[in-house]
Amino acid sequence: MACNKVKMVIDKEFRISEVDERIYGSFIEHLGRAVYDGIYCPEHPSADEYGFRSDVKEMIRELNVPIIRYPGGNFVSSFNWEDSVGPVNERPRRLELAWKSIEENKVGLNEFTKWARNAGSDVMMAVNLGTRGIADACNILEYCNHPGNTKYSDLRISHGYKEPHNIKTWCLGNEMDGPWQLGHKTMEEYGRLAEETARAMKIIDPTIELVSCGSSSLTMPTFPDWEAVTLQHTYDHVDYVSMHQYYGNGKGDSEDFLACSDDMDEFIRTVIATCDYVKAKKRGKKDIKISFDEWNVWYHSNAADNDITENHPWQVAPPMLEDIYNFEDALLVGLMLITMLKHADRVKMACLAQLVNVIAPIMTEAGGGPAWKQTIFYPFMHASAFGRGTALLPVISTPKFDTATHVGVTAVEAVSVYNEEKEEVTIFAVNRSIKDDAEMTVDVRSFEGYRILEHIVLESDDLLAANGPFNEKVAPKQTSQSSLDGGTVTSILHKASWNVIRLGK
Ligand code: AHR
Repeated sequence: MACNKVKMVIDKEFRISEVDERIYGSFIEHLGRAVYDGIYCPEHPSADEYGFRSDVKEMIRELNVPIIRYPGGNFVSSFNWEDSVGPVNERPRRLELAWKSIEENKVGLNEFTKWARNAGSDVMMAVNLGTRGIADACNILEYCNHPGNTKYSDLRISHGYKEPHNIKTWCLGNEMDGPWQLGHKTMEEYGRLAEETARAMKIIDPTIELVSCGSSSLTMPTFPDWEAVTLQHTYDHVDYVSMHQYYGNGKGDSEDFLACSDDMDEFIRTVIATCDYVKAKKRGKKDIKISFDEWNVWYHSNAADNDITENHPWQVAPPMLEDIYNFEDALLVGLMLITMLKHADRVKMACLAQLVNVIAPIMTEAGGGPAWKQTIFYPFMHASAFGRGTALLPVISTPKFDTATHVGVTAVEAVSVYNEEKEEVTIFAVNRSIKDDAEMTVDVRSFEGYRILEHIVLESDDLLAANGPFNEKVAPKQTSQSSLDGGTVTSILHKASWNVIRLGK
């Protein structure tokens, strides 16, 4: 085994941007066991007076998630929000077309909003631009945000919610470029509908922020025309464009899998370029920001999910998208977080998709069992805890290698975040070589008087090791693999490892 030599320079004056804490957002969709049997389970011993699991809420608080997207996802494209409000025993059971399930509407937008705030999160609400349109988007906004004395605000008050929810962030539909989406649209159709919906919504509440639907992945055939065309319609009325991306290691090629964050980087760069093209064309003044509101690893559960939708449809809360994540998935999640931090000037919101049971960092066992942490829980928790402040420009020299579908893959990916208030700086680094350790030296001379607070590492001899309800094989630990001498930090980054190196006064 060789030891790669890596050099990095960080300087508190060389900044990318403030990190918007909302990049540590997540997502809960009415899908599988995310809501029912996930966050909500009145029979569970830890359930609070409203039926929500306190043990799950505690884990969400550990992740410190500032914003949660809701209620979908594909689910939103046939969602009738009115079904989800009012007395629970009067709410209808509906066929849920996106996932071929039954939606019982026991939890709806009021209960969810109250729960989210209690868990320490704001809500990013999505409106249905699939099977519905402008009028319904206006109605749900009036219901949620208008103080009173109108049809829908009074309806909310009659449902026991006197104060408006004041939801600030709204997604104009979901993945409308995808042929799988109910009410899928061409870019012209979506652009016009989103433009008019946005205009109407901002009349009702000019303080809201709106997200225009971007492409569902880098590989969509309509990418990046979709962004170029739709943003020409929505540019004046929206603040963000959405990005979605999932990766999988279906071929069992770990090196190539860990290089996928390079694709994410390319995707972000192209979306920024397209937003700037539209800005130039419009002679605009504002930059459209990115809401990377679905990102994760997703592939382990595909076959089981197809079996449910094809052979066992119309169940209530079936166990769908229950990916069990392994160690290499956690590394890629760490790499994706580093990639977004490197674009902190444009990526202002992001949602790890999703939060509980459905492609999630937190799992729950049915029948009163425990909640437990998947491998991907940890890099997200570290970034959310220590990645707040100012992202610094990473100047890095590292060996590179090629993989099956990627060229010039850096052995080490790293970024640092400076928290001026706390006088701390944290270096996040992944050694994505699965063969070689790395010795990384970091010039930190601008951080005079700082010392190493800790070096946390997530590593495993087995890239495929996974956690379970009673067995946590992959968990972070403290190491003494970092030292500081004469303004240089020297760290040993073991092959295939996620590292959090924290310095403070
Ligand atoms: O997060 C799971 C699904 O992935 C969402 O419903 C959809 O938006 C995306 O395709």
